[in-house]
Amino acid sequence: MSAVLTRHHDVLAALHAPEQFSNKVSSHLNVPNGMDGAEHLAYRALIEPFFSDVVLTQFQPKLQVVIDELLVNLDAYDDVEVMATLGHPFALRAQCAFMGWPVALEQRLTEWIDAQNAATLAQDRPTLRRLADEFSDIVIEQFDRARRGEGDPDSITAQLTRLRLNGTPVSDDYLVSIVRNWTVGELGTIAAAIGSIVGFLAQNQVVQKQLREAPMHIDHAINEILRLDAPLLTNRRRTTCSVKFGDMSYEADTTVTIDWRAANNDPKVFVEPHQFKWDRDPHLNLLYGAGVHVCPGKPLAQLELGLFTRSLLNKFETIQLGEQPFERAQPPRGGYRRIWVKFNH
Ligand code: HEM
Repeated sequence: MSAVLTRHHDVLAALHAPEQFSNKVSSHLNVPNGMDGAEHLAYRALIEPFFSDVVLTQFQPKLQVVIDELLVNLDAYDDVEVMATLGHPFALRAQCAFMGWPVALEQRLTEWIDAQNAATLAQDRPTLRRLADEFSDIVIEQFDRARRGEGDPDSITAQLTRLRLNGTPVSDDYLVSIVRNWTVGELGTIAAAIGSIVGFLAQNQVVQKQLREAPMHIDHAINEILRLDAPLLTNRRRTTCSVKFGDMSYEADTTVTIDWRAANNDPKVFVEPHQFKWDRDPHLNLLYGAGVHVCPGKPLAQLELGLFTRSLLNKFETIQLGEQPFERAQPPRGGYRRIWVKFNH
């Protein structure tokens, strides 16, 4: 059995009833998103400090370097394809910088991501299994480097190798799964978010001008842009018992898809849902989820997207759509597949 939750009210109800809507939807280890109850709480408590204010304040100057290197000379080109030039490279370089991984790893990870995307689209399970092993090898190499004392002893990767749960070191399988949760899912989400933000600014000169004049509203605007154009489309749950809400009822063991895009554009909750509005209640926005599985990486995502957008608006006086028509991404991806933009033309 399967079902899709599209109404804001139903999605919120499911997110706040984790004992009825389990996150154990697959047999693969998924730390912490595929966990429930006390086990989930214990691993959440382990990872949350990696997204604290102190960690992010230390990361900010490194992130600025990544952004500056990407934005340099963009105005020398007529049309820039945002996803290939900014979205994907930014997501990857920001993540490598955050983890403290060597620059040389970027090329290998880029090839891995391309192969993973192709195998996902083709539903090629044997290749996906091989790629999952390859990802583990790449990450374990980074843990081994850190354990040998190579690189920064305070890097996020080095700190992960020292994690303990109830006094016992966390095994490499679990550490790899934590990094997989931060990397495999989130690189695509951050890249899609960059494409949607740049695409929105290029098509909305009034908001672009407002944000240049009042950059303190950038984070608020980004949340509204990404409510309109979801970078992450779905997550899943499995019912643990028969569940009834409103006019819907689900048998036990039903796989339930949470449709973030539909819930965040529900006309019962958002007046004129497809319009950008400054005065929406931010608490209704489900961009980062809600309940016990609410995104722990939200502060990092907001820092990355906010600093990127601030730098973009500072550097370029004009951002406009390019000549070629854009292409929207196809599910499971959100945002754009390709979108061309002109900077300072
Ligand atoms: C624009 C960027 C991002 C968006 C829109 C986003 C959105 C979400 C959402 C909606 C969930 C809830 C999933 C569920 O209920 O099953 C989630 C969970 C999660 N996110 Fe994010 N996320 C973003 C960036 C990040 C980043 C940068 C990281 C870490 C590097 C991250 C790490 C996680 C983890 C570990 C979970 C699972 C939490 C749990 O199950 O307890 N996210 N994210």
